[in-house]
Amino acid sequence: MLIKRVKENYNFSSWDEKLLANLAPTMEEAADDFVDAFYKKIMQFKNASKYLKDEEVIERHKGAVRAWFLKIFQGQYDDDYLHYLEGIGYTHVKTKLPSHYVNVCISFVRKYCNDLILKTSSACEERTDSILAVGKVLDINLDILTSSYIEEEKNIFFISKKAEGKLITFAERFSYGLNLVLMVGLVLLGLMVLGLFAYDISQMFQGDMEKGLLATLGALLMLWVVIELVDTEVEHLRGAKFSVKVFVSVAMVAVIRKVLVTTLKSEPAAIQAQYSLIVALAVLGLVYWIIHKTEKM
Ligand code: HEM
Repeated sequence: MLIKRVKENYNFSSWDEKLLANLAPTMEEAADDFVDAFYKKIMQFKNASKYLKDEEVIERHKGAVRAWFLKIFQGQYDDDYLHYLEGIGYTHVKTKLPSHYVNVCISFVRKYCNDLILKTSSACEERTDSILAVGKVLDINLDILTSSYIEEEKNIFFISKKAEGKLITFAERFSYGLNLVLMVGLVLLGLMVLGLFAYDISQMFQGDMEKGLLATLGALLMLWVVIELVDTEVEHLRGAKFSVKVFVSVAMVAVIRKVLVTTLKSEPAAIQAQYSLIVALAVLGLVYWIIHKTEKM
């Protein structure tokens, strides 16, 4: 990263530098109060004590934050300043400080400075410009402080970053290809179930009406399952979350179909099997209901 490029991107001009330098005496006077207010804010973070472990670290950090605050108004925004900010970002990454904390802090500093400018300077065009200049320099700070987190994320690799990147891309494409194969399989299955449905209907008029009706009902249930599976797969390919509920409903339909088939038999073994199937159906129904409730929450 080049400081020149960063300044250009944020439209940070020499006029902004001058305005910030003009604010230096006010900010120096407020430095102690700033550190107190800043610390009051960061100590509200739930896990602040996880990072600021003891008094020694806190005192060191207070001094470092004070120096950082004053540097904002010292008018030196060169490569040394960039490396200084990168160093802070790197220290935070090393301590595994969440980047969210830094974002919140910068927002706090922005408000603190703006309030101070509004309180201490008279209403004029320069006051608005000063607020804008503080906004720009804090945006630059935030950009550099958090870019260390992005660099750190990009730097996680096992042997070779490039080879692993290619492998991940390949795995993603392969998984997508497998999903497409699954989709084709489901469509074929749907066609076969349609064939079975037509066959069951033709059987109904040729033989046992009751048996034919139940078989047709079973085929209809299977068709419904295939439709559900195809819909879920389409949604999944479009990026939706995988639905566990569908698998439970598939199992439920399979059991219901089996119950339908066993009702045609009157042997004691078949009746026994029916009881077991009904219990299995009740359990599956309960699981389905729990998943449905959890997903809704
Ligand atoms: C805008 C926000 C912040 C700024 C400008 C800032 C500034 C700094 C600076 C200048 C250092 C010294 C860097 C070095 O010596 O390399 C530092 C270190 C550190 N910061 Fe921050 N900090 C911020 C937010 C936070 C927050 C929110 C926490 C924790 C809740 C935190 C925890 C630490 C810790 C643990 C260290 C290392 C301290 C040590 O062992 O010396 N910082 N920070």
